[in-house]
Amino acid sequence: PASLAYQVALSDHARSAEQRAALLAGELGFGKYFTDHMVAIQWDKAKGWHDAQVRAYGPLALDPAAAVLHYGQEIFEGIKAYRHADGSIWTFRPEANGARLQRSAERLALPKLPVAEFTESLRQLVAVDHEWVPSAPESSLYFRPFMIASEAFLGVRAAQAASYYVIASPAGAYFAKGVAPVSIWLSEDYARAAKGGTGAAKCGGNYAASLLPQQEAYAQGCSQVLFLDPVEGRYIEELGGMNVFLVYRDGRIVTPELSGSILEGITRSSILQLARDRGLKVEERKVSIDEWKNGVASGEISEVFACGTAAVVTPIGELKGKGFVVGDIDAPAGEVTMAIRQELTDIQYGRAPDRHGWLVRL
Ligand code: COI
Repeated sequence: PASLAYQVALSDHARSAEQRAALLAGELGFGKYFTDHMVAIQWDKAKGWHDAQVRAYGPLALDPAAAVLHYGQEIFEGIKAYRHADGSIWTFRPEANGARLQRSAERLALPKLPVAEFTESLRQLVAVDHEWVPSAPESSLYFRPFMIASEAFLGVRAAQAASYYVIASPAGAYFAKGVAPVSIWLSEDYARAAKGGTGAAKCGGNYAASLLPQQEAYAQGCSQVLFLDPVEGRYIEELGGMNVFLVYRDGRIVTPELSGSILEGITRSSILQLARDRGLKVEERKVSIDEWKNGVASGEISEVFACGTAAVVTPIGELKGKGFVVGDIDAPAGEVTMAIRQELTDIQYGRAPDRHGWLVRL
């Protein structure tokens, strides 16, 4: 059980009920608006985790020598709260996100926050900001828990002081066009991860490394970039911020195996379970870029989709690269893709039984 004692100091500039209602009634998009409060917990080598607070959302005071600003010692999570029809608020598999935050911490030489404290931090924030959990269809409150090395020291070693925060953002669809199929750009000049690198950790640096290739994708009219494995440059790994699935006409569903450089998506693992439940043959293995290109061209692969907490399940209409395009961006979203998306969101929003015990009430 969680044991940190929280100090709660309510914001003196919290928005009014009318301001909040107006904001929640508008186009939320993704990651643009933030609630009135945040969680902060401090860690140092001597005291361990201490000084847990719920306080007004606002700027951090950070020493300019803080290690995070120099050596990028940072990790984060993404997890949502869903409002059910009866008004209750639930989150999805928080122990999985908490465990992943610990694995990321290990890789980035940051301290491990106990999983129970991770879940408790979400609960503490929702206790004060519950009115920010939207109720419009497909909307949710997106939590962004993150941890930074806050020690003021320029020597290159694991910091001896760190801070953990949770902020929250009422959110709609990640992509501007909602669940419409997206175009993906194959990055051949850049990798997002290295052998033995940080690819499996959820650290800011991985996303920083994806931004230039992501700009290349935008320039090609694509909304995400696809990265290949860092060793042979032959096998598909993941998108800038999402995992990938291929659906075969013969009833197989295939996703790249966890190679050590792929993010261990919680949506990914939930989809694998739902696919098994519906009798699909699930394969986690190496998938070459040629398998994707040839399979789509021959029609053997009938659907491709991306998944993540932010993107949920998003159909991929086409894959573009230097000198080739496969798929048809104008084709409707695939049936299996949309059925899995529906099933997952039905569980998250409490419209279908939670057979796997994934929901936790906040
Ligand atoms: C998420 O899906 O929650 C992520 O952290 C990915 C990011 C691209 C928004």
